[in-house]
Amino acid sequence: MDFELKTLSLDAAATDKCDALVLVLGESFKPGKDALSRLAHEAIQAGHLEPKAGKMLQAYRSDGIAAPRVVLVGAGDCSAKRVHAAVHAAVGALRTSKAKRLMICLPDAHGDAVRAAVSATAEASYVYVATKSKPEGRELQRVTIAVSDAAQHKAAFGASRAAAHGIEFARELANMPPNMATPTRLGEEARKLARAHGFQCEVMGPKEIAKLGMGSFMAVAKGSEEPARFIVLKHLGGPASQAPVVLVGKGITFDSGGISIKPAPEMDEMKFDMGGAASVLGTFRALGDIKPKLNVIGLIPTCENMPDGRSVKPGDIVTSLSGQTIEILNTDAEGRLILCDALSYAERFKPGAVIDIATLTGACVVALGAVRSGLFSTDDALAQALLTAGEAALDLCWRMPLDDEYADGLKSNFADVANVGGRAGGAVTAAKFLQRFAGKYPWAHLDIAGTAWKGGAVKGATGRPVGLLVRYLLAQALAAAPASKPTKAHKAAKTAKTIKASTRSARAR
Ligand code: BES
Ligand code: MN
Ligand code: ZN
Repeated sequence: MDFELKTLSLDAAATDKCDALVLVLGESFKPGKDALSRLAHEAIQAGHLEPKAGKMLQAYRSDGIAAPRVVLVGAGDCSAKRVHAAVHAAVGALRTSKAKRLMICLPDAHGDAVRAAVSATAEASYVYVATKSKPEGRELQRVTIAVSDAAQHKAAFGASRAAAHGIEFARELANMPPNMATPTRLGEEARKLARAHGFQCEVMGPKEIAKLGMGSFMAVAKGSEEPARFIVLKHLGGPASQAPVVLVGKGITFDSGGISIKPAPEMDEMKFDMGGAASVLGTFRALGDIKPKLNVIGLIPTCENMPDGRSVKPGDIVTSLSGQTIEILNTDAEGRLILCDALSYAERFKPGAVIDIATLTGACVVALGAVRSGLFSTDDALAQALLTAGEAALDLCWRMPLDDEYADGLKSNFADVANVGGRAGGAVTAAKFLQRFAGKYPWAHLDIAGTAWKGGAVKGATGRPVGLLVRYLLAQALAAAPASKPTKAHKAAKTAKTIKASTRSARAR
């Protein structure tokens, strides 16, 4: 499925031979003389439609409108959130229509509305078919976003289209069954992405991982027949002098808990435990389209967590890449064990920021549910940038604390640190564990345990937080781009900001 952006009046849109048309109406909608306006105006007058958010009306073979199906939907004040909800509902209503070509008219469009319409359409029309014998429901091929001035929205459109592709890529990978989406497969997908978009890519196997000294990562991987992989992806779009952003994704392709085995109900959902890895690959998929002038490095430690005669046992002590020894008291707290070695590995890139993304704790699901991802950071500027990106992308997160007292439970009598604290504040103690390995750069951790997938009847991956990450990286690229003609005052302000930022991160260290 692909998107295009077009300048089209409602008059022209009405005569376009698409299979279905969605008209998004704001409260300030001013009807023209065209057939679509007439339809909307009559429906509003008759009280059958309100431009209020969430109200929807469907029409069939309407006079003067070429599309057989028309959905009129209210978007209230036309904020990004309202447009997203409106388009999501309308496209959802058309899911079973088998439409190949869809037109979405945004007469009151602004940049955020265009972005929201693209992401909502992609989200609502996604259908998983990879392992179905009959691939039904994937009829939609082309979506046209019709606005009054396409040139004005070109940048917003391009970025949101790329993000939509990235989100779809992440969903597709995370939805795949664990016997297919193996660590080996993730490595192959990374290589394929690299080939298609010109990234640098290195995929390491068990021998290389052991040689690096990643004793903690190896401990998790050794109970499985599937060989582990450590994936390094690089998009080097910025100058060599620019410190890269490093994204680290948890890639547990199946989390049985290991010897500290999980209960049977819903254990299948632990195939989604590579959601962090999928989000890093999805973000690179988007970078491939956008090609921002930014250096971004993706690191993915990936393996299975399985019980076996060779598995790591509760009480085992391992030496991490950092040199710190870890007492593994619970083999189900495996995410932090593979991430800590990747966080140490990240130091070699002298990063400007490191963001890890992980389906890390059930406790985070209890704390924040499925609405916001947990955000932990040692750097206020980085935290703020991620919060802002999340709001803009409608992919929300919420900052959580990192007080040192939360680390008390991680003390061990036999090693430098234990891999679990008590039950209380479980999302925070997990973050405190990671923080020990992320002291050399500004760091943020996104716990996506509640947001990476949905359970129940709508079981499936969400692709979060690809939207947030793409938005954050684009903001970074914009900030890094030299101003076209910097004035003296401009330069002075910029220097002041840089100094402030560097003292802040120095303190965080
Ligand atoms: N992958 C899980 C976290 C998880 C659990 C995500 C449920 C989404 C839903 C992680 O590896 C895990 O098992 N964490 C344990 C940690 C505990 C043993 C300290 C948990 O949250 O129970
Ligand atoms: Mn686990
Ligand atoms: Zn896990």
